[in-house]
Amino acid sequence: MTRKPIIAGNWKLNKTIQEAIELVTLLKRQVGDIQNVEIVVCPPYTALSSVSEILVDSDIKLGAQDVYWEEKGAFTGEVSPSLIKDAGAQVVIIGHSERRQFFHETDEGVNKKTKAVLKAGLAPIVCVGETLAEREADKTIRVIQDQLRGAFAHFSNGEMKEVAIAYEPVWAIGTGKVATPLQAGEVHDFIRKELSKSFGHEVAEGLRILYGGSVKPDNIARLMQEPDIDGALVGGASLDAAGFSEIVKSASIVTV
Ligand code: 13P
Repeated sequence: MTRKPIIAGNWKLNKTIQEAIELVTLLKRQVGDIQNVEIVVCPPYTALSSVSEILVDSDIKLGAQDVYWEEKGAFTGEVSPSLIKDAGAQVVIIGHSERRQFFHETDEGVNKKTKAVLKAGLAPIVCVGETLAEREADKTIRVIQDQLRGAFAHFSNGEMKEVAIAYEPVWAIGTGKVATPLQAGEVHDFIRKELSKSFGHEVAEGLRILYGGSVKPDNIARLMQEPDIDGALVGGASLDAAGFSEIVKSASIVTV
């Protein structure tokens, strides 16, 4: 089965509206015509609507970095799936390790958010990953298994088909310490096998599993050669048009 790779840029807490417009305008020019890679940019909430105006006539997709599961009401500071959709986004990152680490996000919360996002017709990218202490204690597989079971509890096969997963080892995020293709490939392979047990071979084979953690123009091609790595969730290197474009182009060449 061929899976169209995704290269998604997670801008985190960076870029004013004007800076976001400038970055996405350059990306459109540099990689807007690439068809064999799904390109996603995830600016902060404040820039979503302005960026969506730039992307109206483009295949580059727009994503949010988080979401809340309730639709409306007294939830100060939160943003619902339909507000994200209203701002022009089609994709949402859920359960990023920074949300888990700094904002006490739980697997149960990830589950509710992912359900809500699917219900709104948006595409979730659900993040999983172990810390350095967990890896050193040989707990990587166990941690990933627990995160998957929590995130996708009570999911139907139909729901699971719409999900993408990002494996982001916490120790590789923003550290310049990329997982080796073999380390990443091993976890990706485990994720696919594990989901195959719960949702069947066909669903698991169709799932896009992205790698995230210090992805750069010079390491993306090798990572993408791993059979179970279907793209990347890029942090720091997505803040610069030239670097992100280079990553997209390398992924596009490997995919041909
Ligand atoms: P870096 O690419 O900066 O390591 O960040 C990865 C990440 O967290 C993407 O979501």
